[in-house]
Amino acid sequence: MSSKINWGILGTGKIAKTFATGLKGSSTGELLAVGSRTQDSANAFGAENGASRCYASYAALLADRDVECVYISLPHTYHVEWSIKAAAAGKHILCEKPMALNHVEAIAVFDAIKKHDVFFMEAFMYRCHPQTRKIAELVRTKAIGDIRVIDAAFSFTVPYDPRSRLLANDLAGGGILDVGCYPITMANKIAGVANGMEFVEPIDLKALGHLGKTGVDEYTCAVAKYPGDIVARLSTGVQVDQENALRIYGTEGRIVVPTPWKPSEICGSSHFVVHRLGEQSQTITIENPKHLYALEADAVAANISRRECPFMSWGDSMANLRTMDRWRNEIGLVYDIEKSNSTPKVR
Ligand SMILES: NC(=O)c1ccc[n+]([C@@H]2O[C@H](COP(=O)([O-])OP(=O)(O)OC[C@H]3O[C@@H](n4cnc5c(N)ncnc54)[C@H](OP(=O)(O)O)[C@@H]3O)[C@@H](O)[C@H]2O)c1
Repeated sequence: MSSKINWGILGTGKIAKTFATGLKGSSTGELLAVGSRTQDSANAFGAENGASRCYASYAALLADRDVECVYISLPHTYHVEWSIKAAAAGKHILCEKPMALNHVEAIAVFDAIKKHDVFFMEAFMYRCHPQTRKIAELVRTKAIGDIRVIDAAFSFTVPYDPRSRLLANDLAGGGILDVGCYPITMANKIAGVANGMEFVEPIDLKALGHLGKTGVDEYTCAVAKYPGDIVARLSTGVQVDQENALRIYGTEGRIVVPTPWKPSEICGSSHFVVHRLGEQSQTITIENPKHLYALEADAVAANISRRECPFMSWGDSMANLRTMDRWRNEIGLVYDIEKSNSTPKVR
């Protein structure tokens, strides 16, 4: 065994492949194992991505004593169950967003994390990128004065398939949980930094949206008010293609970020523009030679002994979950599985 962290991936879907590719560029970790619902899929993923141990169940992967850290890349509705099981197996955890369907479920996850004393981070990769830190630094140093308005969107459109992960009610489809959490966590961060903190939650939130035939939010917009009289426009959806940009407006100018969520897509340089009133606009270039998901794996490794990562702390995740609950409440979005259960389901 090498001195690098041995990772195991639960699931063999789209983001699992992207993360496995990123892990190859990490300085601190390597892929040891993959767990899937089927042996064939585990074997194919292992062969393609260099995992030497391929398991036909997620439980079998958790039973492998050599796996130190797991990446949970399953559909949203499986995150709580497998985070709790991974914690009980003594594994450190990077769990895809959203870490839970609602804040009550997230409390159960954090109880397990604390009980078993393992690392946990909700996988917001954009938080690990230097572009995000640069934007926060500009806000902190008042490069555009006092922050007044934040405008953040993340949405996309997919061909309509009511059984797909993005639209099915039983897989907690819809925009808010899938990508609305990006504008929320960004606004919570920017408003937090403007208030001298790492993040804050809205003091008020109003929203309208459209629930489709499966009862999930196909598109929706929220307006949130933060401490310091900051107002944010947040939008998301899985049935509308918007400009997925971030704009921050202050008393002395604005910052426009064309690629806030996947800066430079995967690696290379990314750019954003600072417009100060009465001055020529300035393009800021951020060089990032590493794969976006290698940065995330390395952020986990750097903070494993502290059990949480400052890029996306446990409190930050709880603030995100509570804000998503409020947004969903405004548009009447309750999943069928939540109607029958008030506590997290561990299958
Ligand atoms: N951070 C990011 O950039 C990013 C990007 C995309 C998605 N995500 C998050 O990652 C998670 C997975 O998204 P994805 O796009 O990778 O999904 P996906 O392609 O559908 O893959 C999900 C995987 O989960 C497993 N699975 C277990 N039960 C399932 C079920 N009932 N239906 C479908 N799959 C099931 C499957 O693997 P096996 O068959 O091998 O068990 C499947 O390949 C989501 O929570 C999403 O929010 C994050």
